[in-house]
Amino acid sequence: MFTLETAATAAYVVAALLFILALAGLSKHETSRAGNSFGIAGMAVALVATIALALARHIEPLGLALLIVAMVIGAAIGLWRAKIVEMTGMPELIALLHSFVGLAAVLVGWNGYLHVEGDATGAEAAQLASEGMLGIHSAEVVIGVFIGAVTFTGSIVANLKLSARMKSAPMMLPGKNILNVGALVVFAALTVWFVIDPQLWLLIVVTVLALLLGWHLVASIGGGDMPVVVSMLNSYSGWAAAASGFLLGNDLLIITGALVGSSGAYLSYIMCKAMNRSFISVIAGGFGIEAGPAEDKDYGEHREITAEGAAELLANATSVIITPGYGMAVAQAQYGVADLTRKLRERGVEVRFGIHPVAGRLPGHMNVLLAEAKVPYDIVLEMDEINDDFDGTSVVLVIGANDTVNPAASEDPGSPIAGMPVLTVWNADNVIVFKRSMASGYAGVQNPLFFRENTQMLFGDAKDRVDAINAALSVGEHV
Ligand code: TAP
Repeated sequence: MFTLETAATAAYVVAALLFILALAGLSKHETSRAGNSFGIAGMAVALVATIALALARHIEPLGLALLIVAMVIGAAIGLWRAKIVEMTGMPELIALLHSFVGLAAVLVGWNGYLHVEGDATGAEAAQLASEGMLGIHSAEVVIGVFIGAVTFTGSIVANLKLSARMKSAPMMLPGKNILNVGALVVFAALTVWFVIDPQLWLLIVVTVLALLLGWHLVASIGGGDMPVVVSMLNSYSGWAAAASGFLLGNDLLIITGALVGSSGAYLSYIMCKAMNRSFISVIAGGFGIEAGPAEDKDYGEHREITAEGAAELLANATSVIITPGYGMAVAQAQYGVADLTRKLRERGVEVRFGIHPVAGRLPGHMNVLLAEAKVPYDIVLEMDEINDDFDGTSVVLVIGANDTVNPAASEDPGSPIAGMPVLTVWNADNVIVFKRSMASGYAGVQNPLFFRENTQMLFGDAKDRVDAINAALSVGEHV
């Protein structure tokens, strides 16, 4: 028989399919807009179906009102944040959103406990007991609370680190690996105990333990590995949602959670490979990484260049590679950079871009900015495509990039970013580094590139300096 309940269940299947199409669409540049639209449609269907399901199950008027008010407030905050967020602030916003999923999973778990295990004489407990499912329910409660709480505090630390409200250097507690493994062993033991004898204090201990573990796991990871952490927390938030789905008997939540959980894990794996990091090491909170903070080495003196000097060097170059980084995004220098590219190409200079996979603060950050400024796609190359070409290039412009062009990653095994592949800009004839000071980059590591003989620093805001070079080149055109 066709009821509101069956319609809602069918709608859940449709929403799940739309989410799969969204993921497929988002995997390619050309189809990403369509992917986004599928995601929006899927979420809209899911929200309507949730209300329909609540009505079919005779939700009380107060409950329905709360549901609708929560949706309206959530939608308003979501729209407002999406409108005002800067591209550079996206990863920290995403980290914050993951923390909500974690918190929701903790609340769902606690709610499950209070309705069943905490109310042993109630109807729900009696029904589960008669079906022999009480133990399963207790396991779902404790596992959901655990994953949710780890995701919650882990995401908050990621948010604080990404927004520079917390130091990005890894926290190095003595015996940190033993602490992490110990917490997991204690959790496993408490889970068994809770399933056999679900007492309130056990759930409190598991919650506190997981909150501390989440904090410690992410705090132990250095800034350079943060991109992987964000996608890993994305994965954790998916598993937390799936755990809530089991507890609530909600298939859509299980499917969506599994999709987010597995795609986040896969993305973390790809990023780890790209950054030459061990996946296990990162998910285990920097397991095995015992290197201390970088020592302050004396690399000697740096040399400086003016915008006019840079313009002259560029005007006489045959080939130029531009390697942008986070500073280009902060300065919003991409339009000036596009202008400079056009000017140089008109003069017959070969101009290409070298994009590091984690340049900026989110995957594809630089590509989006350059596309926005209408830099042709075909001259924007990935790191692997261009890394052999620096040798023989006349001038490299490092615009607001730092960690991604740090030779210490490949030359100093003691460096905190050792092993991370970098753009080998120092092989070019001349390197000009655009930044405002000698400050270190995101990973907090000094960059020996700045002191190389073929490197010159062009200090100032990247947009100002690029504009000044453009002005100098225009003057040169009319002379
Ligand atoms: P960073 O190492 O972050 O360095 C950016 C540089 O830009 C800084 O040294 C800064 O120096 C300079 N800068 C900032 N504002 C500027 C402005 N207005 N004008 C000129 N220069 C400016 O950049 P990167 O090379 O792009 O590396 C990215 C880092 O972020 C990596 O460590 C990466 O692991 C991490 N990360 C990446 C992601 C993803 S997925 N891409 C996510 C999170 C973290 P001054 O202060 O001296 O100007």
